[in-house]
Amino acid sequence: MPPMADTAVVIGGGTMGVGIAYVLAVAGARVDLVDADADLAAAAVARAGDLAEGAVARGKLAPDQVAAVRGRLRPAGRVEDATPGADVVIEAVPERADLKRAVLTAAERALSPALLATNTSGISIGELAGALAAPERFLGLHFFNPVPAMALVEVVVGPATGDAARAVALALVERIGKTAVVVADAPGFATSRLGVALGLEAIRMVEQGVAEPAAIDRAMELGYRHPVGPLRLTDLVGLDVRLDIARNLAAAYGPRFDPPRLLIDMVARGDLGKKTGQGFYTWA
Ligand code: NAI
Repeated sequence: MPPMADTAVVIGGGTMGVGIAYVLAVAGARVDLVDADADLAAAAVARAGDLAEGAVARGKLAPDQVAAVRGRLRPAGRVEDATPGADVVIEAVPERADLKRAVLTAAERALSPALLATNTSGISIGELAGALAAPERFLGLHFFNPVPAMALVEVVVGPATGDAARAVALALVERIGKTAVVVADAPGFATSRLGVALGLEAIRMVEQGVAEPAAIDRAMELGYRHPVGPLRLTDLVGLDVRLDIARNLAAAYGPRFDPPRLLIDMVARGDLGKKTGQGFYTWA
């Protein structure tokens, strides 16, 4: 097993950060999970521990591993409170370039990790690397939701990413039992560019009354063997997350990625999908 990632810091304890921290802890790493304040960080660590309980219930984790996994997770209310010199730091804050740049720069300065990664869904790695002192140690590690269940990690190699960082990232992905696909640094990479294109078109079809969300999803599940239809997937990802990605892709590729009015309106009224109980579907 590659030696990488005995110590890790995950910044952003939301949907993705909790899942990433959990899979790293299951693989044996000691993980600091950072959120915007100490209470949020503690709640995020608790949710990562809950993932362990859920995994036991589904037979995916031995019961005696729960305490071990919980024991490897530590909350931190600020980047500066995390362990310096960690093997890997993974940023998973909201999909806004200015915020990510600020967090990445602070993390590099405070922690100087061997590998610095972003879980961005599609912002250019070169753009995010702009303010870093060591961009050769930086790349994209794009996990998928829900992290424990999804096999893929897109490894996004930026213009300044060094071969050593790329090798360490591939070893890390292998160590956590996932499969890496290496892609070049084009906005949206491979997966978000295609996935969001499909999702936005499905939302336009709802706007135009072509079919109900459940019918569109069923059509893609049965007609194209997609395991989840594009609207249910948008609910699972979070409508706010998809709106941010669409705006970034529209800035890069033009109006074909302009977010539909319906998406903008739903986000404005707080219908963000599964996490708020209401999106294209009502969630229990
Ligand atoms: P989220 O909104 O669930 O979580 C973001 C977390 O970051 C929140 O807990 C928030 O309190 C925290 N945060 C905000 N500012 C912070 C700061 N300055 N320092 C520390 N923590 C801070 O977002 P989610 O869905 O986890 O997405 C995070 C990233 O992962 C985004 O870049 C998104 O595009 C990407 N992503 C999301 C996927 C999804 O399905 N939701 C899939 C793959 C990537």
